[in-house]
This record gives sequence, C-alpha cells and structure tokens, in this order.
Amino acid sequence: MAPVSKAFPELLTTRLRLRRFEPRDVDGLHACFGDPDAMRYWTFPACSAKTETARWVRILGKTTSPHEYLAWAVADKRSDRCIGMVIYHHREARNHRLEIGYILAKPQRGRGLMAEALQAMLAHCFEKLGVHRVDALIHPDNAASMRLAERLGFRPEGGPLRDFWRVGDRYASVMVYGLIQGEEAWAKPPRVAAAHRGGG
Ligand SMILES: CC(C)(COP(=O)(O)OP(=O)(O)OC[C@H]1O[C@@H](n2cnc3c(N)ncnc32)[C@H](O)[C@@H]1OP(=O)(O)O)[C@@H](O)C(=O)NCCC(=O)NCCS
Repeated sequence: MAPVSKAFPELLTTRLRLRRFEPRDVDGLHACFGDPDAMRYWTFPACSAKTETARWVRILGKTTSPHEYLAWAVADKRSDRCIGMVIYHHREARNHRLEIGYILAKPQRGRGLMAEALQAMLAHCFEKLGVHRVDALIHPDNAASMRLAERLGFRPEGGPLRDFWRVGDRYASVMVYGLIQGEEAWAKPPRVAAAHRGGG
C-alpha cells in the first residue's frame, strides 16, 4: 500500500471542509450521535449525554495513525461548523481494502452534502492510500444510505449478513455494498448520446 503522510489529510470540496475533530465540535457531532433516529442503523446506540459524544470527539480527534482508521469532521466550509462525520476503518493493508461510515445531522440532509464528502474521502482512499476496494455495510432498512452508496457507484453484493453487529444489547444484520477503484460513479466519462455516436 502507498506510504502515508503523518500530517492530517484535510480535504476541501465545493461546500465542505473535512478536517480533524476538535473540542469545539461536540455540539455538531452530538446533533448526529445524540439523535436516536439518526443512530437507528449505526454500530452503537445513540449517546444520551453530551459527555459521551465529547468522549468520541476526543477519540476521533486523536487519530494520528491513518493506518487502521481515520475520521474527519465534516464542516460547513463557510462557518467551519461540524455538521457530520466520515470515517474509514478496518483498513487491511494486505488486501488494499477498508470500510467506511458516515453520518450527517438531520437539518443538513437532502442537499447532496454527504455525497460530496464521501467523494472526497473515497478519492483520498483510492489515490493517496492505494486502496483497491471499499466496503459499506448497511442495515437492510437504511434506504437513504443504500441509495447514497449506489449513487456513488457501490454495488449491492449480498446479505443480509445476519446479526453481524452487536449494537447495545441487540444484534443488527447488514447488507454488503462494494466499490472497486475505477467504478466510482463520478469518475465515469460522460455518456455519449446515441444520436451523436459514430456513423453520422
Ligand atoms: C445516509 C445519510 C448520510 C444520507 O444523507 P444525505 O446525502 O443528505 O441524504 P439524501 O437525503 O440526499 O438522500 C440520499 C439519497 O437517498 C434517497 N433517500 C433519502 N431518504 C430516503 C428514504 N427514506 N427512502 C428511500 N430513499 C431515500 C434520496 O432521495 C437520495 O437519493 P437521490 O440522490 O437519488 O435523490 C443520512 O441519511 C444519515 O446521516 N443517516 C443516518 C446515519 C446513517 O445511517 N449512516 C449510514 C450508516 S451505513
């Protein structure tokens, strides 16, 4: 796998700044982690107290080794306020693969912001980390996440993998979505309309 830089890989998109988590991000992340509805399909239950989210902010902000996992605070570019998170984890150097997770505060949804954030993170994974395959494990009822993954080029490859995650005192099943480098939906050349193709 490609060598990795020690500096935090900040990523800029048209509307977003993906940066390291800082203590001031507790409220922004708590709008995600503290919302039981947003956390319905997450790998752990919603944080009932802000102090729990503050603990996550400390943990996520400390990741200086990008080898196994790395989290970015998704911030609005103009205000620099945290509105969500993207993360890769379970990175396997030998297999050139990793898994991703993502969450956006409810008031910010429906504007394509997470697609924008994920494109930047996936481009980083493919181009800078030398990743070949990315997995998204998605709860079978999480329609918005499956739709988003497919819009980015992920293909549904199987599932449900039964009781794959332990979430609090329950188990959750997951569907497997996979994206191979080069299959990204945004990387495809524009389709040539039939009327303009050859012969004319
Ligand atoms: C998944 C998530 C980040 C998507 O945020 P978003 O990009 O703002 O979502 P959008 O509202 O733009 O929806 C993305 C797509 O899903 C569709 N969608 C949204 N809600 C849907 C629903 N309830 N049923 C079916 N499709 C839905 C949208 O129409 C859109 O598709 P389109 O671009 O073809 O129109 C957001 O829903 C979230 O944070 N969920 C909670 C955390 C989570 O479940 N993360 C994923 C863990 S695997």
